[in-house]
Amino acid sequence: MKVMVVGGGGREHAIIKGLKKSPKVEEIYALPGNGGIAKDATCVNIGAKDIDGICKFAKDNKIDYAVVAPDDPLVLGCVDALESIGVSCFGPNKAAAIIEGSKVFSKNLMKKYNIPTADYNVFSNAEDALEFVKTAPVPVVVKADGLALGKGVIIATTTEEAVAAVKDIMEDKVFGDSGNNIVIEEFLTGPEVSVLAFTDGKTIVPMVSSMDHKRAHDNDTGLNTGGMGTVAPNPYYTDDIASVCMDTIFIPTMNAMNSEGRTFKGCLYFGLMLTVKGPKVIEYNCRFGDPETQVVLPLLESDLLTVMQATTNGTLAETEVKFSSKSACCVIMASKGYPVSYENGFPIVFGEAEENISYFVAGATLEDGKLLSKGGRVLGVTAVNDCLKCAVEDAYKAVKQVDFSNGFYRNDIGAKALKAL
Ligand code: AMP
Ligand code: GLY
Repeated sequence: MKVMVVGGGGREHAIIKGLKKSPKVEEIYALPGNGGIAKDATCVNIGAKDIDGICKFAKDNKIDYAVVAPDDPLVLGCVDALESIGVSCFGPNKAAAIIEGSKVFSKNLMKKYNIPTADYNVFSNAEDALEFVKTAPVPVVVKADGLALGKGVIIATTTEEAVAAVKDIMEDKVFGDSGNNIVIEEFLTGPEVSVLAFTDGKTIVPMVSSMDHKRAHDNDTGLNTGGMGTVAPNPYYTDDIASVCMDTIFIPTMNAMNSEGRTFKGCLYFGLMLTVKGPKVIEYNCRFGDPETQVVLPLLESDLLTVMQATTNGTLAETEVKFSSKSACCVIMASKGYPVSYENGFPIVFGEAEENISYFVAGATLEDGKLLSKGGRVLGVTAVNDCLKCAVEDAYKAVKQVDFSNGFYRNDIGAKALKAL
């Protein structure tokens, strides 16, 4: 089969390496991919948001199956467009992708269907929102409604910060139209867990749980990033908690989307917080998380393409989805200065990788056979081993063998998880 993957980050590299293991896959194209992905797929210079370009390429090249990985094309309706020209796809259609595309939609969905989440209010004008935050208890969480490159959530620890957040989002439009509406919600505490789940709209199969590390620097300091590393499984996510999540969150969410006429097919991402009052949803994403995918997919033992096709065809109940009982750790190497500003163009040279190590390239170009950094998050280094401690040690050993002079990484990926064990 000829398979096409839309996107060009570490997540897409992990998906492509997973698909490559399938005996059914003959050729993989990445749109646009990147200089590192070029080792594993044919990269085509078509942007992930260029829906017309993506459709034309799929048609011209007789693509049999498309995986639409990033949030933007999903929310813009890339799956609808591809399906309308007869290309079978992994990923939700536009109607279902709204679960990530609008926080107002997702919060109202959870309220309507009694799915546990933080208490909240929605505002469509700055005056009312400002009035509200002036008396709201702090910390308080201010969220832009739409997509904002993962930066649309502000945790205000003082009333002044909350007022500034509302003004930034609603008056100064720092996130553009994504800030036309905002959600202001209760601040929750507890360990965070990411659970990705395959669903065909009738069956939902959670993958192995994981833990992201969002802050840029050690001990959860510095700015929020797209994610500086992950481990799987997440030790806080016990079998008992998993069973509660299945009954109170996963199945109710799938059913709620069906009831709304927005059947979700693909990978549904649950960002959960394990509070003293039980697990609650912090956010939904309509796609594989990044860098969660870089630890979850290396642990998948079943054929990725077969599982993906089952979500499209509605045959997930009859399809084996098996994960290894091993552990994985992914350490992200980012460009110095990320997430604020950084320089590109520094060479990256990998070390001699052991068999249990994968390099997932998130941001690089290939020039004269040399891999050069391009982007904030540049590389994910994943190790799989029998225990989490061994996986963490192996990942760091491999990171130290990468030659990337402009790179930095957190030194404590997995530390919290190991403490919890
Ligand atoms: P999001 O972009 O929705 O994933 O939010 C980014 C991060 O903000 C989450 O991973 C949480 O750490 C934090 N966060 C979001 N909502 C809340 C909340 N209601 N209470 C506490 N922390 C939150
Ligand atoms: N790692 C968080 C996300 O993919 O949104």
